[in-house]
Amino acid sequence: MATIVEKMPTGAQAESIYILNSGAAHAEQERLNRQHVLFDDMMQNDLLPPHIASALSASPTPPKILEIATGTAVWLSEVAKTLPSNAEFVGLDFDTSKFPSSLPPNITLRQADMFKPFPSDLHEKFDVVNVRLIIFALKEGQGTDLLLTSIEPPSQAWFKFQDINWRFAKKVGRDLNLPIGMVHYIKEAGCVECDDKAYPSNSQLYTRERDSWISRSNVHVKALAEQSLRGITSLGGVEGMTTQEEVDELLASFDKEFGDRKIHYLFIRAWGRKPQVA
Ligand SMILES: C[S@@+](CC[C@H](N)C(=O)[O-])C[C@H]1O[C@@H](n2cnc3c(N)ncnc32)[C@H](O)[C@@H]1O
Repeated sequence: MATIVEKMPTGAQAESIYILNSGAAHAEQERLNRQHVLFDDMMQNDLLPPHIASALSASPTPPKILEIATGTAVWLSEVAKTLPSNAEFVGLDFDTSKFPSSLPPNITLRQADMFKPFPSDLHEKFDVVNVRLIIFALKEGQGTDLLLTSIEPPSQAWFKFQDINWRFAKKVGRDLNLPIGMVHYIKEAGCVECDDKAYPSNSQLYTRERDSWISRSNVHVKALAEQSLRGITSLGGVEGMTTQEEVDELLASFDKEFGDRKIHYLFIRAWGRKPQVA
């Protein structure tokens, strides 16, 4: 059986349990940008909780927004379009290979590991700090929604993927309390006015976009499976998923089974406000 050979990550990435950065950067860039549109539709195109978006728009000073683990900065770029051009945006990620080659002048991207203290010039400066879709990077106590996903009609390929994903999550100590536990983590961090909102994917089944939603979700699930399996095997895999043949076999089942299945999952957004210092 062939063993999968991967490029060697360095520094913080080498110690990370994060699985979606393996392989060609452009494929992951495209997957993240496509995913943004899918999730944005699901979240009623509210890039921010509406009360936070209104407060920013009404702010007497230019808004400043930081995004941690920004990926391709797709969310930052979309938020930037909704705010005045003197607003300031900073995106951080430990993997810079997915940063876009050009951005508006008010968006700056920098390399940073979210588990290390941030440079002091970023402290106490931002009105909003956004972080999303980092569950694959969080170990227990730092905080899987894949485990909450259900497929209709049931898919053997998905069951197998869930089993592999769960066993891998246990192996690397990933935090399985997310995303449901997110708001509790924000409260524990000392924030006030904390709350969360769940956006069910199946609400899209009752819109005019139903058919395109189903086909886009199916494309998304296949791309996520491919990228996850690449990352899982590059980190040593789990029994039954360590070789390229095993990856190819499962991906072939995804190709066969996914086309027009209904994919039910929750997107949960949680927020809180850092109390003002007297
Ligand atoms: C699933 S992507 C989501 C990207 C973006 N937040 C979005 O919603 O499109 C997760 C991102 O977290 C980044 N990441 C993972 N571990 C990290 C760490 N320790 N420090 C900084 N970024 C990290 C990855 O490189 C990747 O870009």
